[in-house]
Amino acid sequence: MSAQSFTQRSLREALSSFATGVTIVTTIDGDGAPVGMTASSFNSVSMDPPLVLWSVTKTALSAQAFKASSHFNVHVLAADQVALSNRFAMSGEDKFAGINYTTNEHGIPVLSGAVARFDCSNWQAYEGGDHWILVGEVLRLEHAKAEGLVFSAGSYATASPIAKTSADATHAASADAEVDNLLFYNLSRSYRLMADQFHGVVRASGLSVPQWRILASLRGEATRSLADLAVRTFIEDWSLLDTIMTMQDEGLCTSNAGTGVADADVIITGTRVGHERVEHLFSLCSQQEREALGNDDPESLSKLIELLQRLVEHGDARQ
Ligand SMILES: Cc1cc2nc3c(=O)[nH]c(=O)nc-3n(C[C@H](O)[C@H](O)[C@H](O)COP(=O)(O)O)c2cc1C
Repeated sequence: MSAQSFTQRSLREALSSFATGVTIVTTIDGDGAPVGMTASSFNSVSMDPPLVLWSVTKTALSAQAFKASSHFNVHVLAADQVALSNRFAMSGEDKFAGINYTTNEHGIPVLSGAVARFDCSNWQAYEGGDHWILVGEVLRLEHAKAEGLVFSAGSYATASPIAKTSADATHAASADAEVDNLLFYNLSRSYRLMADQFHGVVRASGLSVPQWRILASLRGEATRSLADLAVRTFIEDWSLLDTIMTMQDEGLCTSNAGTGVADADVIITGTRVGHERVEHLFSLCSQQEREALGNDDPESLSKLIELLQRLVEHGDARQ
Protein backbone atom coordinates (compact mmCIF):
# COMPACT_ATOMS: atom_id res chain seq x y z
CA MET A 1 0.00 0.00 0.00
CA SER A 2 1.45 3.42 -0.90
CA ALA A 3 1.95 6.08 1.80
CA GLN A 4 -1.03 8.44 1.84
CA SER A 5 -1.21 12.01 3.03
CA PHE A 6 -4.92 11.74 3.84
CA THR A 7 -7.22 9.64 5.96
CA GLN A 8 -10.08 7.49 4.68
CA ARG A 9 -12.46 9.92 6.32
CA SER A 10 -11.06 12.94 4.48
CA LEU A 11 -11.14 10.92 1.22
CA ARG A 12 -14.80 10.08 1.84
CA GLU A 13 -15.63 13.69 2.73
CA ALA A 14 -13.83 15.11 -0.30
CA LEU A 15 -15.56 12.61 -2.60
CA SER A 16 -18.95 13.46 -1.10
CA SER A 17 -18.54 17.02 -2.40
CA PHE A 18 -19.08 15.51 -5.87
CA ALA A 19 -22.88 15.69 -6.23
CA THR A 20 -24.40 12.68 -7.95
CA GLY A 21 -27.79 11.35 -8.88
CA VAL A 22 -29.21 8.37 -7.02
CA THR A 23 -30.05 5.04 -8.62
CA ILE A 24 -31.45 1.69 -7.57
CA VAL A 25 -29.85 -1.18 -9.44
CA THR A 26 -31.81 -4.43 -9.63
CA THR A 27 -31.07 -7.96 -10.72
CA ILE A 28 -31.96 -11.54 -9.73
CA ASP A 29 -29.89 -14.08 -7.83
CA GLY A 30 -29.20 -17.70 -8.83
CA ASP A 31 -32.64 -18.73 -7.49
CA GLY A 32 -34.40 -16.03 -9.48
CA ALA A 33 -35.15 -13.93 -6.34
CA PRO A 34 -35.16 -10.14 -6.83
CA VAL A 35 -32.07 -8.26 -5.63
CA GLY A 36 -31.58 -4.51 -5.50
CA MET A 37 -29.52 -1.77 -3.92
CA THR A 38 -29.19 1.98 -3.89
CA ALA A 39 -26.11 3.21 -5.74
CA SER A 40 -24.80 6.66 -6.53
CA SER A 41 -21.66 5.43 -8.32
CA PHE A 42 -23.55 5.19 -11.62
CA ASN A 43 -21.96 6.93 -14.60
CA SER A 44 -21.83 6.94 -18.38
CA VAL A 45 -18.88 5.29 -20.12
CA SER A 46 -19.37 4.99 -23.88
CA MET A 47 -21.86 5.98 -26.56
CA ASP A 48 -20.82 3.33 -29.10
CA PRO A 49 -21.28 0.72 -27.82
CA PRO A 50 -23.64 2.24 -25.22
CA LEU A 51 -21.94 1.45 -21.91
CA VAL A 52 -22.60 2.58 -18.34
CA LEU A 53 -20.94 1.64 -15.07
CA TRP A 54 -21.52 1.50 -11.36
CA SER A 55 -19.53 -0.01 -8.54
CA VAL A 56 -20.66 -2.32 -5.79
CA THR A 57 -18.86 -2.77 -2.52
CA LYS A 58 -17.60 -6.35 -2.20
CA THR A 59 -19.10 -6.56 1.29
CA ALA A 60 -22.67 -5.88 0.10
CA LEU A 61 -24.85 -8.95 0.55
CA SER A 62 -25.99 -8.56 -3.04
CA ALA A 63 -22.47 -8.10 -4.54
CA GLN A 64 -22.12 -11.71 -5.71
CA ALA A 65 -25.58 -11.73 -7.27
CA PHE A 66 -24.74 -8.59 -9.26
CA LYS A 67 -21.35 -9.93 -10.35
CA ALA A 68 -22.76 -13.29 -11.40
CA SER A 69 -25.96 -12.07 -13.05
CA SER A 70 -26.17 -11.72 -16.83
CA HIS A 71 -28.32 -8.55 -16.65
CA PHE A 72 -29.13 -5.62 -14.37
CA ASN A 73 -31.47 -2.61 -14.52
CA VAL A 74 -30.40 0.86 -13.37
CA HIS A 75 -33.27 3.11 -12.18
CA VAL A 76 -32.44 6.83 -11.92
CA LEU A 77 -34.57 7.98 -8.99
CA ALA A 78 -36.96 10.91 -9.06
CA ALA A 79 -36.85 13.69 -6.46
CA ASP A 80 -39.83 12.16 -4.60
CA GLN A 81 -38.23 8.71 -4.19
CA VAL A 82 -36.15 9.30 -1.05
CA ALA A 83 -38.09 6.65 0.90
CA LEU A 84 -37.42 4.08 -1.82
CA SER A 85 -33.74 5.01 -1.88
CA ASN A 86 -33.50 4.54 1.89
CA ARG A 87 -35.29 1.23 1.68
CA PHE A 88 -32.85 -0.15 -0.91
CA ALA A 89 -29.87 1.16 1.07
CA MET A 90 -30.74 -1.13 3.99
CA SER A 91 -28.57 -4.21 3.95
CA GLY A 92 -30.21 -7.61 3.73
CA GLU A 93 -33.80 -6.40 4.23
CA ASP A 94 -36.54 -7.87 2.09
CA LYS A 95 -36.44 -4.74 0.00
CA PHE A 96 -39.11 -5.83 -2.47
CA ALA A 97 -41.73 -6.77 0.15
CA GLY A 98 -44.92 -4.81 -0.50
CA ILE A 99 -43.44 -3.07 -3.52
CA ASN A 100 -45.23 -3.17 -6.85
CA TYR A 101 -42.74 -4.16 -9.49
CA THR A 102 -42.75 -5.90 -12.83
CA THR A 103 -39.93 -7.70 -14.63
CA ASN A 104 -38.42 -7.17 -18.07
CA GLU A 105 -37.83 -9.90 -20.67
CA HIS A 106 -34.71 -11.04 -18.79
CA GLY A 107 -36.64 -11.43 -15.54
CA ILE A 108 -34.93 -8.39 -13.95
CA PRO A 109 -37.11 -6.27 -11.60
CA VAL A 110 -38.48 -3.00 -12.99
CA LEU A 111 -39.48 -0.37 -10.41
CA SER A 112 -41.96 2.36 -11.29
CA GLY A 113 -41.62 6.11 -10.81
CA ALA A 114 -37.98 6.44 -11.95
CA VAL A 115 -36.83 9.35 -14.11
CA ALA A 116 -34.89 6.98 -16.35
CA ARG A 117 -34.20 3.27 -16.57
CA PHE A 118 -31.33 1.52 -18.31
CA ASP A 119 -31.80 -2.21 -18.90
CA CYS A 120 -28.28 -3.62 -19.26
CA SER A 121 -26.47 -6.82 -19.97
CA ASN A 122 -23.49 -7.43 -17.70
CA TRP A 123 -20.74 -6.43 -20.16
CA GLN A 124 -17.72 -6.77 -17.89
CA ALA A 125 -16.88 -6.80 -14.18
CA TYR A 126 -13.59 -5.22 -13.17
CA GLU A 127 -11.59 -5.48 -9.97
CA GLY A 128 -11.72 -2.10 -8.18
CA GLY A 129 -10.09 -2.39 -4.76
CA ASP A 130 -12.86 -2.94 -2.22
CA HIS A 131 -15.51 -2.60 -4.97
CA TRP A 132 -16.37 -4.43 -8.16
CA ILE A 133 -16.79 -2.09 -11.12
CA LEU A 134 -19.70 -3.37 -13.18
CA VAL A 135 -19.96 -2.18 -16.76
CA GLY A 136 -23.29 -2.72 -18.46
CA GLU A 137 -24.26 -2.53 -22.11
CA VAL A 138 -27.54 -0.63 -22.42
CA LEU A 139 -30.04 -2.81 -24.28
CA ARG A 140 -33.08 -0.65 -23.71
CA LEU A 141 -33.96 2.60 -21.96
CA GLU A 142 -36.94 4.56 -20.69
CA HIS A 143 -36.86 8.26 -19.88
CA ALA A 144 -39.50 10.52 -18.32
CA LYS A 145 -39.48 14.30 -17.90
CA ALA A 146 -39.22 14.60 -14.13
CA GLU A 147 -36.86 16.04 -11.59
CA GLY A 148 -34.10 13.66 -10.50
CA LEU A 149 -32.96 13.01 -6.95
CA VAL A 150 -29.51 14.33 -6.03
CA PHE A 151 -27.07 13.13 -3.37
CA SER A 152 -24.56 15.70 -2.20
CA ALA A 153 -22.38 15.96 0.91
CA GLY A 154 -24.24 13.06 2.52
CA SER A 155 -27.73 14.52 2.04
CA TYR A 156 -30.50 14.15 -0.47
CA ALA A 157 -31.20 17.26 -2.51
CA THR A 158 -32.86 18.44 -5.67
CA ALA A 159 -31.09 20.27 -8.46
CA SER A 160 -32.26 23.51 -10.02
CA PRO A 161 -30.57 25.37 -12.85
CA ILE A 162 -28.34 28.31 -11.90
CA ALA A 163 -29.87 31.64 -12.89
CA LYS A 164 -28.65 32.91 -16.25
CA THR A 165 -25.78 35.41 -16.37
CA SER A 166 -26.60 38.79 -17.91
CA ALA A 167 -24.61 37.86 -21.06
CA ASP A 168 -26.66 34.70 -21.54
CA ALA A 169 -29.76 36.69 -20.76
CA THR A 170 -29.07 39.18 -23.57
CA HIS A 171 -28.80 36.37 -26.14
CA ALA A 172 -31.96 34.75 -24.88
CA ALA A 173 -33.87 38.00 -24.35
CA SER A 174 -36.39 37.60 -27.14
CA ALA A 175 -37.18 33.98 -26.29
CA ASP A 176 -37.48 34.98 -22.64
CA ALA A 177 -39.94 37.72 -23.43
CA GLU A 178 -42.37 35.17 -24.84
CA VAL A 179 -41.89 32.65 -22.08
CA ASP A 180 -42.01 35.29 -19.34
CA ASN A 181 -45.70 35.84 -20.00
CA LEU A 182 -46.70 32.19 -19.75
CA LEU A 183 -48.62 31.20 -16.64
CA PHE A 184 -47.03 27.74 -16.71
CA TYR A 185 -43.54 29.21 -16.74
CA ASN A 186 -44.26 31.62 -13.89
CA LEU A 187 -45.96 28.94 -11.80
CA SER A 188 -43.10 26.49 -12.27
CA ARG A 189 -40.34 29.00 -11.69
CA SER A 190 -41.91 30.64 -8.64
CA TYR A 191 -42.73 27.23 -7.16
CA ARG A 192 -39.17 26.04 -7.67
CA LEU A 193 -37.65 29.16 -6.10
CA MET A 194 -39.89 28.97 -3.05
CA ALA A 195 -39.75 25.18 -2.72
CA ASP A 196 -35.94 25.01 -2.93
CA GLN A 197 -35.69 27.35 0.04
CA PHE A 198 -38.46 25.80 2.11
CA HIS A 199 -37.62 22.15 1.40
CA GLY A 200 -34.12 22.82 2.78
CA VAL A 201 -35.81 23.89 6.03
CA VAL A 202 -37.97 20.74 5.98
CA ARG A 203 -34.97 18.45 5.48
CA ALA A 204 -33.03 20.25 8.20
CA SER A 205 -35.90 19.38 10.57
CA GLY A 206 -35.28 15.68 9.90
CA LEU A 207 -38.34 15.14 7.69
CA SER A 208 -38.34 14.27 4.00
CA VAL A 209 -40.45 16.44 1.70
CA PRO A 210 -43.04 13.65 1.16
CA GLN A 211 -43.29 13.20 4.97
CA TRP A 212 -43.85 16.95 5.38
CA ARG A 213 -46.56 16.94 2.70
CA ILE A 214 -48.33 14.06 4.42
CA LEU A 215 -48.08 15.60 7.90
CA ALA A 216 -49.18 19.00 6.59
CA SER A 217 -52.26 17.35 5.03
CA LEU A 218 -53.02 15.58 8.34
CA ARG A 219 -52.52 18.70 10.44
CA GLY A 220 -54.79 18.95 13.46
CA GLU A 221 -55.09 15.13 13.61
CA ALA A 222 -57.23 15.16 10.45
CA THR A 223 -58.35 11.92 8.77
CA ARG A 224 -57.99 11.42 5.03
CA SER A 225 -58.40 8.59 2.56
CA LEU A 226 -55.33 7.28 0.74
CA ALA A 227 -56.65 8.66 -2.57
CA ASP A 228 -57.22 12.13 -1.09
CA LEU A 229 -53.73 12.10 0.42
CA ALA A 230 -52.20 11.01 -2.91
CA VAL A 231 -53.85 13.97 -4.68
CA ARG A 232 -52.68 16.42 -1.99
CA THR A 233 -49.11 15.15 -1.69
CA PHE A 234 -48.34 14.19 -5.35
CA ILE A 235 -46.96 10.87 -4.12
CA GLU A 236 -47.84 7.70 -6.03
CA ASP A 237 -50.20 5.36 -4.15
CA TRP A 238 -47.71 2.49 -3.71
CA SER A 239 -44.90 4.72 -2.47
CA LEU A 240 -47.38 6.67 -0.31
CA LEU A 241 -48.47 3.49 1.47
CA ASP A 242 -44.83 2.63 2.12
CA THR A 243 -44.11 6.07 3.56
CA ILE A 244 -47.26 5.93 5.70
CA MET A 245 -46.30 2.55 7.17
CA THR A 246 -42.87 3.91 8.15
CA MET A 247 -44.41 7.07 9.61
CA GLN A 248 -46.92 4.95 11.50
CA ASP A 249 -44.04 3.02 13.11
CA GLU A 250 -42.67 6.37 14.28
CA GLY A 251 -46.05 7.40 15.74
CA LEU A 252 -46.45 10.26 13.23
CA CYS A 253 -49.82 8.95 12.00
CA THR A 254 -52.17 6.00 12.39
CA SER A 255 -53.91 4.04 9.66
CA ASN A 256 -55.68 0.79 8.85
CA ALA A 257 -53.11 0.06 6.10
CA GLY A 258 -51.55 -3.38 6.37
CA THR A 259 -54.64 -4.87 8.06
CA GLY A 260 -55.91 -6.48 4.88
CA VAL A 261 -58.24 -3.63 3.79
CA ALA A 262 -58.31 -2.66 0.12
CA ASP A 263 -56.30 0.46 -0.84
CA ALA A 264 -59.61 2.26 -1.57
CA ASP A 265 -60.63 1.79 2.09
CA VAL A 266 -57.35 2.88 3.65
CA ILE A 267 -57.72 5.90 5.91
CA ILE A 268 -54.93 7.77 7.63
CA THR A 269 -55.22 9.97 10.70
CA GLY A 270 -52.73 12.50 12.01
CA THR A 271 -51.45 12.16 15.58
CA ARG A 272 -50.45 14.72 18.16
CA VAL A 273 -46.80 13.70 17.68
CA GLY A 274 -47.11 14.26 13.92
CA HIS A 275 -48.90 17.57 14.49
CA GLU A 276 -46.18 18.80 16.84
CA ARG A 277 -43.49 17.71 14.41
CA VAL A 278 -44.70 20.18 11.74
CA GLU A 279 -46.08 23.03 13.84
CA HIS A 280 -42.91 25.11 13.59
CA LEU A 281 -42.67 24.34 9.86
CA PHE A 282 -46.10 25.89 9.36
CA SER A 283 -44.92 29.13 10.97
CA LEU A 284 -41.70 29.10 8.91
CA CYS A 285 -43.76 28.44 5.78
CA SER A 286 -46.11 31.36 6.52
CA GLN A 287 -43.14 33.59 7.22
CA GLN A 288 -41.54 32.64 3.88
CA GLU A 289 -44.85 33.25 2.12
CA ARG A 290 -45.15 36.70 3.68
CA GLU A 291 -41.67 37.56 2.42
CA ALA A 292 -42.17 35.95 -0.99
CA LEU A 293 -43.37 39.09 -2.78
CA GLY A 294 -40.36 41.03 -1.56
CA ASN A 295 -42.36 43.34 0.69
CA ASP A 296 -44.94 43.08 3.39
CA ASP A 297 -48.00 43.03 1.17
CA PRO A 298 -50.61 40.75 2.75
CA GLU A 299 -53.33 41.84 0.34
CA SER A 300 -51.43 40.81 -2.80
CA LEU A 301 -50.47 37.55 -1.13
CA SER A 302 -54.09 36.67 -0.27
CA LYS A 303 -55.18 37.66 -3.79
CA LEU A 304 -52.48 35.40 -5.27
CA ILE A 305 -53.52 32.48 -3.05
CA GLU A 306 -57.17 33.04 -3.99
CA LEU A 307 -56.34 32.96 -7.72
CA LEU A 308 -54.27 29.79 -7.32
CA GLN A 309 -57.11 28.15 -5.37
CA ARG A 310 -59.41 28.98 -8.27
CA LEU A 311 -56.99 27.27 -10.64
CA VAL A 312 -56.95 24.16 -8.43
CA GLU A 313 -60.75 24.07 -8.02
CA HIS A 314 -61.32 24.61 -11.73
CA GLY A 315 -58.74 21.92 -12.60
CA ASP A 316 -60.30 19.44 -10.12
CA ALA A 317 -63.76 20.05 -11.53
CA ARG A 318 -62.59 19.27 -15.07
CA GLN A 319 -60.85 15.99 -14.13
C1 LIG B 1 -27.35 7.56 -1.69
C2 LIG B 1 -26.66 6.23 -1.53
C3 LIG B 1 -25.76 5.82 -2.50
C4 LIG B 1 -25.10 4.58 -2.40
N1 LIG B 1 -24.24 4.19 -3.39
C5 LIG B 1 -23.63 2.99 -3.32
C6 LIG B 1 -22.80 2.54 -4.38
O1 LIG B 1 -22.62 3.20 -5.40
N2 LIG B 1 -22.20 1.32 -4.26
C7 LIG B 1 -22.38 0.54 -3.15
O2 LIG B 1 -21.82 -0.57 -3.09
N3 LIG B 1 -23.18 0.95 -2.13
C8 LIG B 1 -23.83 2.14 -2.20
N4 LIG B 1 -24.67 2.53 -1.20
C9 LIG B 1 -24.86 1.65 -0.04
C10 LIG B 1 -25.75 0.47 -0.36
O3 LIG B 1 -26.99 0.90 -0.88
C11 LIG B 1 -25.96 -0.32 0.94
O4 LIG B 1 -24.71 -0.81 1.36
C12 LIG B 1 -26.91 -1.49 0.81
O5 LIG B 1 -27.27 -1.83 2.12
C13 LIG B 1 -26.37 -2.74 0.20
O6 LIG B 1 -27.39 -3.72 0.31
P1 LIG B 1 -27.08 -5.27 0.49
O7 LIG B 1 -26.05 -5.44 1.57
O8 LIG B 1 -28.42 -5.87 0.85
O9 LIG B 1 -26.57 -5.76 -0.83
C14 LIG B 1 -25.33 3.75 -1.28
C15 LIG B 1 -26.26 4.18 -0.30
C16 LIG B 1 -26.91 5.40 -0.43
C17 LIG B 1 -27.88 5.83 0.62
